[in-house]
Amino acid sequence: MLNKSFKIRPLSDTFGAEIYDIKLSGEMASEDLAQIKALWNRYGILLFREQDIGKDELVGFSRLLGSLETHVRSEWLNETHPEILQISNINVDGKPVGALADGEVGWHYDQIYLPRPALGSLLYSVKIPPDGGSTFFADMTSAYERLPRALKDMVDGHQAIQSYDNFNSMYSTKTSGKQTNLTPNIAQPLVRTHPVTGRKALYLCPGMTIAIAGIDETESADLLEQLFDWTLKKEFVYKHKWNVGDGLLWDNACTMHRREPFDGGYERLMYRTTILPPNDRSVPF
Ligand code: OGA
Ligand code: MN
Repeated sequence: MLNKSFKIRPLSDTFGAEIYDIKLSGEMASEDLAQIKALWNRYGILLFREQDIGKDELVGFSRLLGSLETHVRSEWLNETHPEILQISNINVDGKPVGALADGEVGWHYDQIYLPRPALGSLLYSVKIPPDGGSTFFADMTSAYERLPRALKDMVDGHQAIQSYDNFNSMYSTKTSGKQTNLTPNIAQPLVRTHPVTGRKALYLCPGMTIAIAGIDETESADLLEQLFDWTLKKEFVYKHKWNVGDGLLWDNACTMHRREPFDGGYERLMYRTTILPPNDRSVPF
């Protein structure tokens, strides 16, 4: 018998889709899971609304998509479920329970600074402020495919330098000595081939990309500025306004994201899992 197809609604002209009538858990029918994976590859971001799930279901579902990573920011891992990184402005006993507090969080690709970056992140909203705190995503596949010829010629075959330290100094807090040693600046291809779909995307972001390798500093700064302006054009950007119970799964090989600030008088708490790519294609190429 044919399995039912999920009803979906595209979130923008080029990427993102909401999937209806689905409850995330660690036990999904294999046909449903195959469909979800295909939609994730096709759309880059999947939205699952009204989930009302616990940590077991969140982690269980995430595991169906790949091995999970324990994030390097160990201070913000969930106590009972260390596969969950907490994103929050809540303090307990004067200590933040999560990353990213309430300020602006500039455009970034999660883990672009690691030799084997995660392929996906699933962010689940537990508590949200009444205003602000929306998350924006940019479709870096379309941004690459529509790049004017002259710019395309300048990026193909190049590498760029990625810096977690740069991001933290602007939007977060410093890493510990041990964490700093695990996250030195590294070079990554400026155009990344998706490890599953084979499509190419721009692999750079204003928050972490500090230079293009092998060209002079002024030329590099100028080219990066042009590329950032291009990728942030309205046609490539989707804004997600959160409801409690939203799960948002993004493809970290072809979308970057930023969060707008919100009033720190309100609490925001999100649970994030981090999904690794297949081992044999985990180094960006
Ligand atoms: C993340 C992230 C932004 C947000 O979880 O990687 O950047 O809106 N989150 O919480
Ligand atoms: Mn992020």
